[in-house]
Amino acid sequence: MTAPKIVVTGRIPEPGIDLLKTVGEVWAWTQDEPIPHDIRNGQLASADAVVTILTDTVDEAFLDAAPNLKIVANVAVGYNNINVPACHARGVTVTNTPGVLTDATADLAMGLILMATRRLGEGERLIRSGAPWKWGMFMMLGSGLQGRQLGIVGMGGIGQALAHRARAFGMSVVYHNRNAVSADIEHALSARRCDLDELLATSDVVSLNCPYSEETHHLINAWALSTMRDDAVLVNTARGPIVDESALVEALVNGGIACAALDVFEHEPEVHPGLLGLDNVVLVPHLGSATVETRTAMATLAARNVVGHIEGSGPVTPVT
Ligand code: GLV
Repeated sequence: MTAPKIVVTGRIPEPGIDLLKTVGEVWAWTQDEPIPHDIRNGQLASADAVVTILTDTVDEAFLDAAPNLKIVANVAVGYNNINVPACHARGVTVTNTPGVLTDATADLAMGLILMATRRLGEGERLIRSGAPWKWGMFMMLGSGLQGRQLGIVGMGGIGQALAHRARAFGMSVVYHNRNAVSADIEHALSARRCDLDELLATSDVVSLNCPYSEETHHLINAWALSTMRDDAVLVNTARGPIVDESALVEALVNGGIACAALDVFEHEPEVHPGLLGLDNVVLVPHLGSATVETRTAMATLAARNVVGHIEGSGPVTPVT
C-alpha cells in the first residue's frame, strides 16, 4: 500500500511536520510567503490530506484541485477560511485547533486593553519620535481598569480566559453569547449574560471574541458603535470583518468611542488608511496566537488530527 500523501500549504513548526511524517509522505511549503496557486494545485492533485493555515482559502476551486482529499486540518481555531459545507458535501473532514491558543489569545487581548487604556502605544511613539518630553503630573493620563466593566462578545474558551484575567485586574464582566455558559462558570468569573445592546451601551471595554460568520459580519457597524459610550474602548482579537472598519474610523475621529485596539483587520493584511494616523488606536499584526509554544501546539494538534484520521481513530478536534 502506498503511503498517504499529506500536503502542508504553509510553513508550520517542525514538530507538526515530524508527526505527519510518521503516517505519510509529506510535501510541505517551507517559505513564509504564500504558496503560488500552480505549485499548490500541482501538489493537491495527489493529496489525501492537507494541512492549511488561516491565509489559505479552501473553496470549491481548491477542492476541485484535490480529487482524493479526505481531510483539511486547519492550523487555527477560526475556520472561516474554509468552506466547510463544500468540504462536507465532498466527504472531506475539516478540523481546527481549539484550546491550545486560548491562553495566548486571552493574554494578547488583555495586553491590548492595557495598551489602549494606559496609552502605551502613544507613549512608545512619543519616545521613538525623538521629541523632547519630561515627566508631568498631567502627561498622557489614561484610565485604570479597577471597577470598570468589560463586555465580552463571544464567551467561548478565549472569552472565558479573558474574563478570568479581567477579574484579576478588578474589572466586572458581562457577556453576550448565543447560549449561556454554565452557572458554575458564570459564578467563578462573576460574569453576567446580557443582550448585545446592553453590553455595548454599558461597557467601558468591549472585547470581540466570537467566531466570524455571515451572522457576525459587521456586527460592530456604525449603529452599534453609536450605541457605545463615548469613553469606551473596542478590542478585536477575533476576526477583522466583524467590525465595519470605515465606521470605526468615523467613530474614532468623531469621538463616538474613545479608542480601539485591533489585532485583526477587515481586509487583512491591509489596514484601513484612516486608522494609521490616529493616536487613539492600537494596531498589531494578528499576533493572538503568536508564541513559540502556542504555534508549536497548534501545528502538533493539526498533525494529530491528520494522524487520527489516517490511523482510523478519528480526528481529535473535528469541525461539525
Ligand atoms: C487565529 O487567528 C486562529 O484562528 O487560530
